[in-house]
Amino acid sequence: MTITFNTIQDLQQALHPLRTDKKIALVPTMGNLHDGHISLVKLAQEHADVVVVSIFVNPTQFGVGEDLDSYPRTLEADTQKLTEAGVDYIFAPSVEEMYPVMPPPTQVLAGAISQYLCGKSRPTHFDGVGIVVTKLFNIVQPNVAVFGKKDYQQLAIIKQLVRDLSYNIEIIGAPLVRAVDGLALSSRNQYLTETECQIAPMLNQHLSKLAQKLKNTPIANNQQLQALIEDTIAQINNAGFRVDYLEVSNQDLSKITDFYGQKQWVIAVAAWLGKARLLDNQEVNG
Ligand code: PAF
Repeated sequence: MTITFNTIQDLQQALHPLRTDKKIALVPTMGNLHDGHISLVKLAQEHADVVVVSIFVNPTQFGVGEDLDSYPRTLEADTQKLTEAGVDYIFAPSVEEMYPVMPPPTQVLAGAISQYLCGKSRPTHFDGVGIVVTKLFNIVQPNVAVFGKKDYQQLAIIKQLVRDLSYNIEIIGAPLVRAVDGLALSSRNQYLTETECQIAPMLNQHLSKLAQKLKNTPIANNQQLQALIEDTIAQINNAGFRVDYLEVSNQDLSKITDFYGQKQWVIAVAAWLGKARLLDNQEVNG
């Protein structure tokens, strides 16, 4: 049976007796769950005895003018999906429960890694993710937490947070889940119009073409890499998107300096299509 808690105290009371001999997993979400989220739940169930899914549209990670108010809130449908998936506990707190004082005066800063890629156009986003994930870790005190690789930069920031704040939590990065047409699943895909839904999968197709080129073309320096990137950005823009960024880096998100050495890269992109800002990425293992 899946039980929903709205307060920190009630959730902690339920978890307390389990801590001695059960492994607890946390899957943090903002709700409006799709198959991508359910894949995180499945992974959590493989790694733990008890799974807690948090559903909280976190105001501190939305910038001014972003979609905080319109972000889809579908608690009833989410509860149904999580019950079918066999989740033990749902934690669905109010904003007041999570943030007695808004904005919270205490901050968790994500630092340099949060200032590029998504951070360029969303400069406060990852600090907001940092504080909410810190709070969720303190509230649930899980042994394991699962985050999707679709939010590649977020995952890197969470790993940094766990290292820097000495959390004894195993962080599992779950593979990105795509629709049959290749579009990366996201709650924000529902902002797409019917016509945009036809165009959206092209983002992934262009990433795959770039990944192929990276594998097949010997790249000697940053200039050659940038030429390939610029070419891909132009093609994506021509297809009707507005690219926010497209970058190729090492898989820990550091800048590539050794072009002949390690060949494990990640291509990360964010592109607007109408009202939706789509994120996608591909790991390239050359
Ligand atoms: O990835 C998300 O849905 C959110 O950023 C998270 C991790 C639940 C924090 O609000």
